[in-house]
Amino acid sequence: MCVLTVKNVQKSFGKIRVLKDISLAVQDGEIVSIIGASGSGKSTLLRCITKLETPDFGEIRMKGKAGLVFQNFNLFPHYSVLRNITEAPIHVMNISREEAEKEAMGLLKRLGLEEKADAYPYQLSGGQAQRVSIARALALKPNILFFDEPTSALDPELTGEVLKVIRSLADLNMTMVIVTHEMEFARELSDRIVFMDRGIIAEEGTPEEIFTSENVRVKEFLGKFHH
Ligand SMILES: Nc1ncnc2c1ncn2[C@@H]1O[C@H](COP(=O)(O)OP(=O)(O)OP(=O)(O)O)[C@@H](O)[C@H]1O
Ligand SMILES: [Mg+2]
Repeated sequence: MCVLTVKNVQKSFGKIRVLKDISLAVQDGEIVSIIGASGSGKSTLLRCITKLETPDFGEIRMKGKAGLVFQNFNLFPHYSVLRNITEAPIHVMNISREEAEKEAMGLLKRLGLEEKADAYPYQLSGGQAQRVSIARALALKPNILFFDEPTSALDPELTGEVLKVIRSLADLNMTMVIVTHEMEFARELSDRIVFMDRGIIAEEGTPEEIFTSENVRVKEFLGKFHH
């Protein structure tokens, strides 16, 4: 079953054609990583899919709710961790405060953050803040979760704890679309990798297919990640 269908999506900012003709389908339970050079349109595609931008052309269909986790957490600085998580369930989904807090505490426990419920975002490490933003996204019970470079603002050490959480979501069969520069992680976790290049999907396949691709642009891009 398709959770997400993107058909012939185009998006320009002024004269720059950022998305030229993007078509993509994501199946229930699938993990799709999106890779590609800076400026290739990855974030714009996620923003169109999650309705933060409106495509100029094309069609996007999604079954159920989407959750979104950004690079820079976007937590409300003046709300506690708990309130950051319960705000949307209470005000968007009309769940009682009591129920929302119970759910949120369960999520915090799962993510190893139980003792941070009353902390404020400035009191958290980057890795903790990112895990709170994952808890906040999960609190809305999404059918599909989108990540836009969830670890790129983090030290390698903190990156590990966030990737561990994403792995645990994979074990629970969460459908996920992950924009990432963590190539080994994408290779290990993804069912499918999509390579974007200058506004198009230039290559798409299993991790094995992508990492052994003869496509010059793919090889050039992956070459940058070899140590
Ligand atoms: N709101 C906007 N207004 C004008 N131009 C924009 C806007 N958002 C994105 N762009 C331009 O669109 C192009 C693609 O940007 P996008 O953020 O989608 O790239 P990306 O693949 O996510 O890159 P990165 O890996 O650096 O995050 C860039 O040239 C960018 O400057
Ligand atoms: Mg981006």
